[in-house]
Amino acid sequence: MLGLYIHIPFCVSKCKYCDFNSYKLDLDEKRKYLNALQKEMELYKEEIRGKYIDTIFIGGGTPSILTQDEIKFLFDNIKNNFEIKKDAEITIECNPGTLTINKLKVMKECGVNRLSIGLQAVQNEHLEYIGRIHTYEEFEKNYIQAKEIGFENINIDLMYALPNQKKEDWIESLEKIVKLDPSHISAYSLILEENTELFNMYQRNEFKLLDEDTDIEMYEHTINYLKSHGYNQYEISNYAKLGFECQHNILYWKCENYVGLGASASGYLNGTRYNNLCELDKYEEIIHSGKKPIEWEEKLSIKDKIEESIFLGLRMNEGIKFKDFQEKFNFDFEKEYKNEINRLEKMKLIDINKYRMKLTQKGREISNSVFVEFIK
Ligand SMILES: C[S@@+](CC[C@H](N)C(=O)[O-])C[C@H]1O[C@@H](n2cnc3c(N)ncnc32)[C@H](O)[C@@H]1O
Ligand code: SF4
Repeated sequence: MLGLYIHIPFCVSKCKYCDFNSYKLDLDEKRKYLNALQKEMELYKEEIRGKYIDTIFIGGGTPSILTQDEIKFLFDNIKNNFEIKKDAEITIECNPGTLTINKLKVMKECGVNRLSIGLQAVQNEHLEYIGRIHTYEEFEKNYIQAKEIGFENINIDLMYALPNQKKEDWIESLEKIVKLDPSHISAYSLILEENTELFNMYQRNEFKLLDEDTDIEMYEHTINYLKSHGYNQYEISNYAKLGFECQHNILYWKCENYVGLGASASGYLNGTRYNNLCELDKYEEIIHSGKKPIEWEEKLSIKDKIEESIFLGLRMNEGIKFKDFQEKFNFDFEKEYKNEINRLEKMKLIDINKYRMKLTQKGREISNSVFVEFIK
Protein backbone atom coordinates (compact mmCIF):
# COMPACT_ATOMS: atom_id res chain seq x y z
CA MET A 1 0.00 0.00 0.00
CA LEU A 2 1.18 3.54 -0.74
CA GLY A 3 -0.36 6.85 0.30
CA LEU A 4 0.24 10.45 -0.73
CA TYR A 5 -0.30 13.37 1.66
CA ILE A 6 -0.08 16.97 0.45
CA HIS A 7 -0.16 19.85 2.93
CA ILE A 8 -1.75 23.19 2.05
CA PRO A 9 -0.65 25.52 4.86
CA PHE A 10 -3.01 28.46 4.34
CA CYS A 11 -6.15 29.52 6.21
CA VAL A 12 -8.38 32.58 6.03
CA SER A 13 -7.57 33.16 9.69
CA LYS A 14 -6.25 31.10 12.55
CA CYS A 15 -8.78 29.22 14.71
CA LYS A 16 -8.07 29.84 18.38
CA TYR A 17 -7.42 26.20 19.30
CA CYS A 18 -5.33 25.21 16.30
CA ASP A 19 -1.59 24.54 16.28
CA PHE A 20 -1.38 22.96 12.83
CA ASN A 21 1.16 24.48 10.49
CA SER A 22 -0.92 27.10 8.72
CA TYR A 23 -0.51 30.76 7.77
CA LYS A 24 -2.94 33.55 7.07
CA LEU A 25 -3.64 33.59 3.35
CA ASP A 26 -1.27 35.58 1.17
CA LEU A 27 -1.99 35.30 -2.56
CA ASP A 28 1.63 35.69 -3.63
CA GLU A 29 2.78 33.09 -1.14
CA LYS A 30 0.12 30.66 -2.33
CA ARG A 31 1.35 30.89 -5.93
CA LYS A 32 4.99 30.40 -4.92
CA TYR A 33 4.02 27.50 -2.69
CA LEU A 34 2.14 25.64 -5.43
CA ASN A 35 5.15 26.00 -7.75
CA ALA A 36 7.36 24.57 -5.03
CA LEU A 37 4.96 21.66 -4.55
CA GLN A 38 5.18 20.95 -8.27
CA LYS A 39 9.00 20.77 -8.00
CA GLU A 40 8.78 18.59 -4.89
CA MET A 41 6.59 16.09 -6.76
CA GLU A 42 9.22 15.95 -9.52
CA LEU A 43 11.85 15.18 -6.87
CA TYR A 44 9.87 12.07 -5.81
CA LYS A 45 8.82 10.97 -9.28
CA GLU A 46 11.71 8.55 -9.92
CA GLU A 47 11.63 7.08 -6.42
CA ILE A 48 7.95 6.22 -6.74
CA ARG A 49 8.00 5.10 -10.37
CA GLY A 50 6.29 1.74 -10.87
CA LYS A 51 4.36 1.97 -7.60
CA TYR A 52 0.66 2.75 -7.61
CA ILE A 53 -0.83 5.21 -5.14
CA ASP A 54 -3.78 3.79 -3.19
CA THR A 55 -4.86 6.88 -1.25
CA ILE A 56 -4.37 10.63 -1.59
CA PHE A 57 -5.13 13.12 1.18
CA ILE A 58 -4.93 16.87 0.56
CA GLY A 59 -4.88 18.31 4.08
CA GLY A 60 -4.21 21.56 5.84
CA GLY A 61 -4.56 24.23 6.66
CA THR A 62 -7.46 24.83 4.32
CA PRO A 63 -7.03 23.14 0.93
CA SER A 64 -10.42 24.51 -0.18
CA ILE A 65 -8.84 27.98 -0.06
CA LEU A 66 -7.28 27.14 -3.45
CA THR A 67 -9.03 28.61 -6.50
CA GLN A 68 -10.56 26.36 -9.16
CA ASP A 69 -7.48 26.80 -11.37
CA GLU A 70 -5.15 26.05 -8.48
CA ILE A 71 -7.05 22.87 -7.63
CA LYS A 72 -6.71 21.80 -11.29
CA PHE A 73 -3.01 22.71 -11.29
CA LEU A 74 -2.42 20.61 -8.17
CA PHE A 75 -4.17 17.53 -9.53
CA ASP A 76 -2.60 17.87 -13.01
CA ASN A 77 0.77 17.76 -11.31
CA ILE A 78 -0.14 14.79 -9.16
CA LYS A 79 -1.25 12.91 -12.29
CA ASN A 80 1.84 13.93 -14.28
CA ASN A 81 4.22 12.70 -11.63
CA PHE A 82 2.58 9.68 -10.01
CA GLU A 83 0.56 6.65 -11.02
CA ILE A 84 -2.73 6.47 -9.19
CA LYS A 85 -4.82 3.34 -8.74
CA LYS A 86 -8.16 3.48 -10.56
CA ASP A 87 -10.15 3.02 -7.35
CA ALA A 88 -7.87 5.19 -5.16
CA GLU A 89 -9.51 7.05 -2.26
CA ILE A 90 -8.88 10.76 -2.90
CA THR A 91 -9.78 13.11 -0.04
CA ILE A 92 -9.62 16.87 0.22
CA GLU A 93 -10.17 18.83 3.45
CA CYS A 94 -12.67 21.65 3.08
CA ASN A 95 -13.72 24.54 5.26
CA PRO A 96 -17.14 26.13 5.04
CA GLY A 97 -16.61 29.78 4.17
CA THR A 98 -14.14 28.86 1.42
CA LEU A 99 -16.17 26.34 -0.57
CA THR A 100 -18.23 27.15 -3.65
CA ILE A 101 -20.31 25.02 -5.95
CA ASN A 102 -17.79 25.58 -8.76
CA LYS A 103 -14.86 24.49 -6.60
CA LEU A 104 -16.80 21.36 -5.64
CA LYS A 105 -17.40 20.63 -9.34
CA VAL A 106 -13.71 21.03 -10.15
CA MET A 107 -12.77 18.74 -7.26
CA LYS A 108 -15.11 16.10 -8.64
CA GLU A 109 -13.69 16.49 -12.16
CA CYS A 110 -10.19 16.08 -10.75
CA GLY A 111 -11.14 12.69 -9.28
CA VAL A 112 -11.73 13.67 -5.66
CA ASN A 113 -14.14 11.10 -4.21
CA ARG A 114 -14.08 11.94 -0.50
CA LEU A 115 -14.55 15.28 1.26
CA SER A 116 -13.63 16.02 4.85
CA ILE A 117 -15.49 19.09 6.02
CA GLY A 118 -14.48 20.83 9.27
CA LEU A 119 -17.52 21.97 11.21
CA GLN A 120 -16.72 21.41 14.94
CA ALA A 121 -20.10 22.42 16.46
CA VAL A 122 -23.63 23.27 15.32
CA GLN A 123 -24.09 26.30 17.62
CA ASN A 124 -22.91 29.56 16.06
CA GLU A 125 -21.89 30.98 19.45
CA HIS A 126 -19.41 28.11 19.92
CA LEU A 127 -18.11 28.50 16.36
CA GLU A 128 -17.53 32.19 16.95
CA TYR A 129 -15.84 31.66 20.33
CA ILE A 130 -13.27 29.25 18.89
CA GLY A 131 -12.55 31.54 15.93
CA ARG A 132 -14.21 29.66 13.06
CA ILE A 133 -14.91 31.83 10.00
CA HIS A 134 -18.31 30.31 9.20
CA THR A 135 -21.76 29.67 10.63
CA TYR A 136 -23.58 26.36 10.89
CA GLU A 137 -25.90 27.48 8.06
CA GLU A 138 -22.96 28.04 5.70
CA PHE A 139 -21.71 24.57 6.49
CA GLU A 140 -25.12 23.02 5.82
CA LYS A 141 -25.40 24.82 2.49
CA ASN A 142 -21.98 23.50 1.39
CA TYR A 143 -22.81 20.01 2.60
CA ILE A 144 -26.05 19.92 0.57
CA GLN A 145 -24.25 21.31 -2.50
CA ALA A 146 -21.60 18.61 -2.20
CA LYS A 147 -24.27 15.91 -1.99
CA GLU A 148 -26.09 17.35 -5.02
CA ILE A 149 -22.90 17.34 -7.05
CA GLY A 150 -22.57 13.65 -6.27
CA PHE A 151 -20.12 13.33 -3.36
CA GLU A 152 -21.27 10.24 -1.49
CA ASN A 153 -18.35 9.88 0.87
CA ILE A 154 -18.23 12.89 3.20
CA ASN A 155 -16.62 13.18 6.61
CA ILE A 156 -17.61 15.86 9.10
CA ASP A 157 -15.13 16.92 11.79
CA LEU A 158 -16.62 17.75 15.19
CA MET A 159 -15.06 18.71 18.50
CA TYR A 160 -16.29 18.28 22.07
CA ALA A 161 -15.13 19.57 25.45
CA LEU A 162 -15.06 23.06 23.92
CA PRO A 163 -15.02 26.10 26.24
CA ASN A 164 -18.47 26.66 27.77
CA GLN A 165 -19.90 23.71 25.86
CA LYS A 166 -22.60 21.88 27.81
CA LYS A 167 -23.27 18.20 27.42
CA GLU A 168 -26.64 19.07 25.82
CA ASP A 169 -24.84 21.19 23.19
CA TRP A 170 -22.71 18.22 22.22
CA ILE A 171 -25.75 15.96 22.09
CA GLU A 172 -27.44 18.51 19.82
CA SER A 173 -24.37 18.62 17.53
CA LEU A 174 -24.39 14.84 17.14
CA GLU A 175 -28.14 14.68 16.54
CA LYS A 176 -28.16 17.41 13.94
CA ILE A 177 -25.20 15.92 12.06
CA VAL A 178 -26.56 12.38 12.09
CA LYS A 179 -29.76 13.74 10.48
CA LEU A 180 -27.63 14.90 7.54
CA ASP A 181 -26.52 11.28 7.07
CA PRO A 182 -22.78 11.70 6.27
CA SER A 183 -20.80 8.50 5.66
CA HIS A 184 -18.13 9.36 8.24
CA ILE A 185 -17.80 11.44 11.41
CA SER A 186 -14.60 12.39 13.25
CA ALA A 187 -15.21 13.53 16.83
CA TYR A 188 -12.22 14.93 18.69
CA SER A 189 -11.95 15.96 22.30
CA LEU A 190 -10.40 19.44 22.46
CA ILE A 191 -6.68 19.41 23.15
CA LEU A 192 -5.57 22.68 24.67
CA GLU A 193 -2.33 23.27 22.78
CA GLU A 194 0.30 25.70 24.01
CA ASN A 195 1.04 28.50 21.54
CA THR A 196 -2.63 28.95 20.71
CA GLU A 197 -4.93 31.86 21.44
CA LEU A 198 -7.20 29.52 23.39
CA PHE A 199 -4.33 28.58 25.68
CA ASN A 200 -3.72 32.27 26.43
CA MET A 201 -7.43 32.77 27.10
CA TYR A 202 -7.38 29.82 29.47
CA GLN A 203 -4.39 31.26 31.31
CA ARG A 204 -6.25 34.54 31.65
CA ASN A 205 -9.06 32.54 33.30
CA GLU A 206 -11.55 33.39 30.56
CA PHE A 207 -13.04 29.89 30.66
CA LYS A 208 -12.72 26.64 32.56
CA LEU A 209 -11.76 23.33 31.04
CA LEU A 210 -14.28 20.52 31.24
CA ASP A 211 -13.65 18.04 34.05
CA GLU A 212 -12.37 14.61 33.06
CA ASP A 213 -15.55 12.76 34.05
CA THR A 214 -17.77 14.89 31.79
CA ASP A 215 -15.25 14.51 28.96
CA ILE A 216 -15.48 10.72 29.30
CA GLU A 217 -19.29 10.87 29.54
CA MET A 218 -19.37 12.83 26.28
CA TYR A 219 -17.03 10.32 24.69
CA GLU A 220 -19.14 7.36 25.79
CA HIS A 221 -22.31 9.06 24.62
CA THR A 222 -20.69 9.68 21.21
CA ILE A 223 -19.75 6.02 20.76
CA ASN A 224 -23.17 4.72 21.81
CA TYR A 225 -25.26 7.30 20.00
CA LEU A 226 -23.34 6.95 16.74
CA LYS A 227 -23.39 3.16 16.98
CA SER A 228 -27.17 3.16 17.38
CA HIS A 229 -27.36 5.23 14.17
CA GLY A 230 -25.18 2.97 12.04
CA TYR A 231 -21.74 4.52 12.62
CA ASN A 232 -19.15 2.10 13.87
CA GLN A 233 -16.25 3.38 15.87
CA TYR A 234 -13.19 1.99 14.09
CA GLU A 235 -10.58 4.20 15.75
CA ILE A 236 -10.36 6.30 18.93
CA SER A 237 -11.97 9.38 17.31
CA ASN A 238 -13.40 8.02 14.05
CA TYR A 239 -16.80 6.58 13.16
CA ALA A 240 -18.03 5.33 9.80
CA LYS A 241 -20.83 3.54 8.07
CA LEU A 242 -19.72 0.12 6.93
CA GLY A 243 -17.31 0.38 4.01
CA PHE A 244 -16.65 4.11 4.51
CA GLU A 245 -13.69 3.89 6.91
CA CYS A 246 -10.94 6.33 5.83
CA GLN A 247 -8.43 4.20 3.92
CA HIS A 248 -5.77 6.89 4.11
CA ASN A 249 -5.81 7.03 7.90
CA ILE A 250 -5.90 3.24 8.15
CA LEU A 251 -2.75 3.22 6.03
CA TYR A 252 -1.05 5.44 8.67
CA TRP A 253 -2.20 3.24 11.53
CA LYS A 254 -0.95 0.13 9.73
CA CYS A 255 2.48 1.72 9.27
CA GLU A 256 2.28 1.54 5.48
CA ASN A 257 4.40 3.73 3.20
CA TYR A 258 3.30 7.23 2.33
CA VAL A 259 4.90 10.20 0.61
CA GLY A 260 4.34 13.48 2.47
CA LEU A 261 4.71 16.67 0.44
CA GLY A 262 4.51 20.31 1.45
CA ALA A 263 5.76 22.42 4.35
CA SER A 264 5.73 20.46 7.65
CA ALA A 265 4.37 17.31 5.99
CA SER A 266 5.67 14.01 7.27
CA GLY A 267 6.21 10.82 5.32
CA TYR A 268 7.29 7.22 5.75
CA LEU A 269 9.16 5.53 2.93
CA ASN A 270 11.22 2.33 2.93
CA GLY A 271 11.65 2.23 6.69
CA THR A 272 12.50 5.94 7.06
CA ARG A 273 10.27 8.52 8.71
CA TYR A 274 10.80 12.13 7.72
CA ASN A 275 9.47 15.61 8.38
CA ASN A 276 9.61 18.53 5.99
CA LEU A 277 10.68 22.05 6.92
CA CYS A 278 7.82 24.13 8.34
CA GLU A 279 8.77 27.64 7.29
CA LEU A 280 7.60 28.44 3.78
CA ASP A 281 10.69 30.43 2.73
CA LYS A 282 13.11 27.73 3.79
CA TYR A 283 10.93 24.97 2.34
CA GLU A 284 10.79 26.73 -1.05
CA GLU A 285 14.47 27.70 -1.09
CA ILE A 286 15.68 24.11 -0.61
CA ILE A 287 13.32 22.76 -3.26
CA HIS A 288 14.52 25.30 -5.80
CA SER A 289 18.09 24.22 -5.09
CA GLY A 290 17.03 20.74 -6.26
CA LYS A 291 16.96 19.03 -2.86
CA LYS A 292 14.15 17.47 -0.87
CA PRO A 293 12.98 19.90 1.86
CA ILE A 294 13.50 17.43 4.67
CA GLU A 295 14.25 18.87 8.11
CA TRP A 296 14.53 15.61 10.00
CA GLU A 297 14.64 11.95 9.05
CA GLU A 298 15.23 8.70 10.87
CA LYS A 299 15.71 5.15 9.71
CA LEU A 300 13.60 3.11 12.09
CA SER A 301 15.21 0.23 13.97
CA ILE A 302 13.27 -3.04 14.37
CA LYS A 303 12.47 -1.96 17.95
CA ASP A 304 11.06 1.37 16.68
CA LYS A 305 8.97 -0.41 14.06
CA ILE A 306 7.55 -2.86 16.60
CA GLU A 307 6.64 -0.08 19.03
CA GLU A 308 5.07 2.05 16.30
CA SER A 309 3.08 -0.91 15.02
CA ILE A 310 1.75 -1.39 18.55
CA PHE A 311 0.68 2.11 19.42
CA LEU A 312 -0.62 2.98 15.96
CA GLY A 313 -2.31 -0.42 15.57
CA LEU A 314 -3.99 -0.19 18.98
CA ARG A 315 -5.67 3.06 17.91
CA MET A 316 -7.90 0.93 15.70
CA ASN A 317 -10.77 -0.94 17.33
CA GLU A 318 -9.74 -4.15 15.56
CA GLY A 319 -6.41 -3.94 17.41
CA ILE A 320 -3.23 -5.82 16.45
CA LYS A 321 -2.67 -9.39 15.26
CA PHE A 322 0.17 -11.41 16.79
CA LYS A 323 0.72 -13.20 13.46
CA ASP A 324 1.71 -9.88 11.83
CA PHE A 325 4.46 -9.33 14.40
CA GLN A 326 5.77 -12.86 13.87
CA GLU A 327 5.77 -12.51 10.08
CA LYS A 328 7.10 -8.96 9.81
CA PHE A 329 9.60 -8.88 12.68
CA ASN A 330 10.02 -12.48 13.82
CA PHE A 331 8.75 -11.21 17.17
CA ASP A 332 6.80 -13.29 19.70
CA PHE A 333 4.49 -10.56 20.99
CA GLU A 334 2.79 -12.51 23.78
CA LYS A 335 6.09 -13.80 25.15
CA GLU A 336 7.97 -10.49 24.98
CA TYR A 337 5.14 -8.47 26.54
CA LYS A 338 3.90 -11.12 28.99
CA ASN A 339 4.09 -8.87 32.08
CA GLU A 340 2.55 -5.82 30.40
CA ILE A 341 -0.29 -7.93 28.99
CA ASN A 342 -1.05 -9.47 32.40
CA ARG A 343 -1.07 -6.10 34.11
CA LEU A 344 -3.26 -4.38 31.48
CA GLU A 345 -5.65 -7.31 31.32
CA LYS A 346 -6.15 -7.24 35.10
CA MET A 347 -6.94 -3.54 34.82
CA LYS A 348 -9.47 -4.38 32.04
CA LEU A 349 -7.72 -2.03 29.63
CA ILE A 350 -7.10 -4.62 26.93
CA ASP A 351 -9.08 -7.47 25.46
CA ILE A 352 -6.94 -10.36 24.27
CA ASN A 353 -7.43 -13.78 22.66
CA LYS A 354 -5.16 -16.31 20.92
CA TYR A 355 -4.85 -14.21 17.78
CA ARG A 356 -5.12 -10.53 18.63
CA MET A 357 -5.14 -7.81 21.25
CA LYS A 358 -7.30 -4.69 21.29
CA LEU A 359 -8.19 -1.89 23.68
CA THR A 360 -11.36 -2.13 25.75
CA GLN A 361 -13.59 0.93 25.98
CA LYS A 362 -11.89 1.78 29.29
CA GLY A 363 -8.52 1.38 27.56
CA ARG A 364 -9.59 3.72 24.76
CA GLU A 365 -10.50 6.40 27.30
CA ILE A 366 -6.91 6.46 28.58
CA SER A 367 -5.21 5.13 25.47
CA ASN A 368 -1.98 7.10 25.91
CA SER A 369 -1.28 5.46 29.27
CA VAL A 370 -1.80 2.06 27.69
CA PHE A 371 0.53 2.84 24.76
CA VAL A 372 3.45 3.83 27.01
CA GLU A 373 3.37 0.39 28.63
CA PHE A 374 4.70 -1.03 25.36
CA ILE A 375 7.61 1.37 24.98
CA LYS A 376 10.71 -0.27 26.44
C1 LIG B 1 -6.11 19.04 10.22
S1 LIG B 1 -7.42 19.85 11.02
C2 LIG B 1 -7.85 20.89 9.70
C3 LIG B 1 -9.18 20.77 9.05
C4 LIG B 1 -9.74 22.03 8.42
N1 LIG B 1 -8.74 23.00 8.17
C5 LIG B 1 -10.79 22.65 9.32
O1 LIG B 1 -10.41 23.28 10.29
O2 LIG B 1 -11.94 22.54 9.02
C6 LIG B 1 -8.54 18.53 11.18
C7 LIG B 1 -9.40 18.57 12.40
O3 LIG B 1 -8.65 18.42 13.58
C8 LIG B 1 -9.42 18.86 14.68
N2 LIG B 1 -8.57 19.68 15.56
C9 LIG B 1 -7.75 20.68 15.21
N3 LIG B 1 -7.16 21.21 16.32
C10 LIG B 1 -7.60 20.49 17.37
C11 LIG B 1 -7.38 20.55 18.79
N4 LIG B 1 -6.55 21.45 19.33
N5 LIG B 1 -8.01 19.65 19.59
C12 LIG B 1 -8.83 18.71 19.06
N6 LIG B 1 -9.09 18.63 17.73
C13 LIG B 1 -8.49 19.51 16.90
C14 LIG B 1 -10.59 19.68 14.10
O4 LIG B 1 -11.77 18.93 14.21
C15 LIG B 1 -10.19 19.83 12.64
O5 LIG B 1 -11.30 19.93 11.81
S1 SF4 C 1 -9.14 26.24 9.50
FE1 SF4 C 1 -8.40 24.22 10.22
S2 SF4 C 1 -6.17 24.29 9.91
FE2 SF4 C 1 -6.93 26.40 9.68
S3 SF4 C 1 -6.65 27.29 11.68
FE3 SF4 C 1 -8.73 26.45 11.63
S4 SF4 C 1 -8.54 24.31 12.42
FE4 SF4 C 1 -6.50 25.05 11.93
